Amino acid sequence: MACNARIRAEFEQGEIFLSNVEIEALIQSMTLREKLAQMTQLSAQFLMRSHTGTLTGPERALNLLPQDLRSLGSVLYWHGAEDARALQERHLREDPHRIPLLFAADIIHGYDTIYPIPLAMACSFDPPLMKDACAMAAREGTAAGIHLTFSPMADLSRDARWGRVMESGGEDPVLNAAFAAAAVEGYGGPAGPGPHTIAACVKHFAGYGGAQAGRDYNTVELSRGTLLDQYMPGYRAALDAGAAMVMASFNTIDRVPATANRWLLRDLLREQWGFDGVIITDFNAIEELVAHGVAEDSAQAAELALRAGVDIEMMSTTYLHYGEALVASGRVEMAAIDDAVRRILRLKEKLGLFEDPYRGLAAPRPLPVAPRRACAYKSAVRSMVLLKNDGVLPLRKEAALGLAGPFADTKQVFGEWAAADNSTAVTVLDGLRVAGMAHVTVAAAGALERAEGRIAEIPDQRAECAALADCDVILAAVGEHQNETGEAASRTSLRLSPNQEALIAALSALGKPVVAVVFSGRPLELSPVLEQCAAVVQAWFPGHEAGSALADLLLGREDFTARLAMSFPRSVGQMPLYYGQAATGRPFDEADPQKYVSRYLDCSNRPLFPFGYGLSYAAFAYDGLSVTPAGGGVDVTVTVRNTSDRAGTETVQVYIHDVAASVARPVRELKAFAKVHLAPGQVQQVRLHLPHEAFCFIGQELVPVFEPGLFEIYAGPNAAEGLRATIRLDA
Ligand code: BGC
Repeated sequence: MACNARIRAEFEQGEIFLSNVEIEALIQSMTLREKLAQMTQLSAQFLMRSHTGTLTGPERALNLLPQDLRSLGSVLYWHGAEDARALQERHLREDPHRIPLLFAADIIHGYDTIYPIPLAMACSFDPPLMKDACAMAAREGTAAGIHLTFSPMADLSRDARWGRVMESGGEDPVLNAAFAAAAVEGYGGPAGPGPHTIAACVKHFAGYGGAQAGRDYNTVELSRGTLLDQYMPGYRAALDAGAAMVMASFNTIDRVPATANRWLLRDLLREQWGFDGVIITDFNAIEELVAHGVAEDSAQAAELALRAGVDIEMMSTTYLHYGEALVASGRVEMAAIDDAVRRILRLKEKLGLFEDPYRGLAAPRPLPVAPRRACAYKSAVRSMVLLKNDGVLPLRKEAALGLAGPFADTKQVFGEWAAADNSTAVTVLDGLRVAGMAHVTVAAAGALERAEGRIAEIPDQRAECAALADCDVILAAVGEHQNETGEAASRTSLRLSPNQEALIAALSALGKPVVAVVFSGRPLELSPVLEQCAAVVQAWFPGHEAGSALADLLLGREDFTARLAMSFPRSVGQMPLYYGQAATGRPFDEADPQKYVSRYLDCSNRPLFPFGYGLSYAAFAYDGLSVTPAGGGVDVTVTVRNTSDRAGTETVQVYIHDVAASVARPVRELKAFAKVHLAPGQVQQVRLHLPHEAFCFIGQELVPVFEPGLFEIYAGPNAAEGLRATIRLDA
């Protein structure tokens, strides 16, 4: 069926979309092999040339037939609008059904313009900002031919050894869910055919952040109760916001790899949650079922994935190779294949691809740079966290500033998952100069060098520090290499590299106040830095506007408003570290230290900095906490006072603790937050409503329950401080 001609005719008659009936007709007209190709996603490299003749190279090694490539359903890894147009044109010429290709890509924190990494964005505690940044990224992405992004990553992240924490919304279920939803909304929600929106694929379903020992791709062992209670809200929020696709994770859930997990994908996701969008594997994950030891060979792997309900196989070809035999032998039903193809075609239809296969490319229009850079700047300003300030900040513009460290003048400030051109990224030095700091001396600014299998290191530059001896204040821009974050970037040490710690010691020995600015994709172990520096700023990987945002914050032109989305450790031995740990029978009480309680001999239980922590140039005090039943939930009212002589923004956080429940509950759970801007001396009463659902949890029967009884309510600046009140809630 020449689908395109028919669609064009219909389009001219004013019928824009394929109806369900037409999708059925299309499915009926496809051979099984064509359906399996529709269910396969490969690198666009495979399609870079025409597939009318004999195949060579990797295509041949994969044992693909030319017709498989001609009927392929979707691609990833192409570059830019021109490629996308050429690929789609050729595809529409060669595919017998003229079904447009779906172009999928990893837009994780921007496309042409790079925003702070998602973990940093979560520190803004400002989901609408995330929405704006993702909307900008969608505009750029559509112009490059992208239809769908493999984002957001809603994997709850509680172990900083795992490199992928940078892609997450952090350790807290509520904050993580808010950011996952905001990202989906920004990309376009249930993306329609508009030229500026992209569909979202939430990943990695499920529990990938629970990888044991923080080692990427490792086994996950979570009770179902914890999985459902703590880890699922992020994915669920993304789906509720309109995510069109779900990516199964590499890890096991209940010992079964997610890619083959029928309980996870069929019973929970499809049946219970009612998700009728597309399920895709992660990269090569079906083949990997063999290494997982749940399939003897690739054929069995394909069978397991098909039976679990996986619609698209990414970057392997077991469906193409074994799908026909599986259907012929009755091991997989044709109806299951048709269901998968139907979901894929519906997504293409929803995106308007049958109407306009060149969606977003049709009229290349230059996107104005200014609003995108403004959003990147605002995002960077709002995501850098001030961890310590003994008064050295804000800097004086006239001060003689020494600048050292590998991030002093580098454009490598994007972090992983950012392939954009960094030539216009603002370095720290550029930022300070543009902000008007006229006396900056740079020394000991050698780059971080990466080598396979070890942490990136700088040269020993202690001797060079003497050049900064006459400065008034010294800025040490340190951290981890941007490629030490993200996928396949697990660490067992969370310290700065030895030469960077030595550099900080040498700078501190000069006797001048040292301000450390830390660039990283994860919480690092900063005790040694903290001891030797007068101020510490956690900059994360801020993206294009790194230097400009940092300079304005350091000079006090902007306030630090960000708060930590992950706890910072004293020691890597505390991992996994998160504030919302379940209560134990032997809690540690610092005021009354006992031996046989849950504690370490050599380290406090407490984090170095708790979740929610962050300083402002202003200072805030809380009092007058009151909690009253309201509308089935609870109204929490607290008075916040700006006790400083500067205006500032406080992030008011409300936590609960269920004092006695049928299962052990977290010692604290964030339930609401609000950002409040206060003039010097201003006092404001802040009211936050906790709905009835805030007091529900996943019970022993693995469904949400509400159990009447006593609840503690905390309102304060972070997960470790705040005022406390109690309330008894009835059935
Ligand atoms: C990652 C995914 C990513 C995919 C496609 C995989 O290796 O785990 O997060 O979306 O590659 O690039």
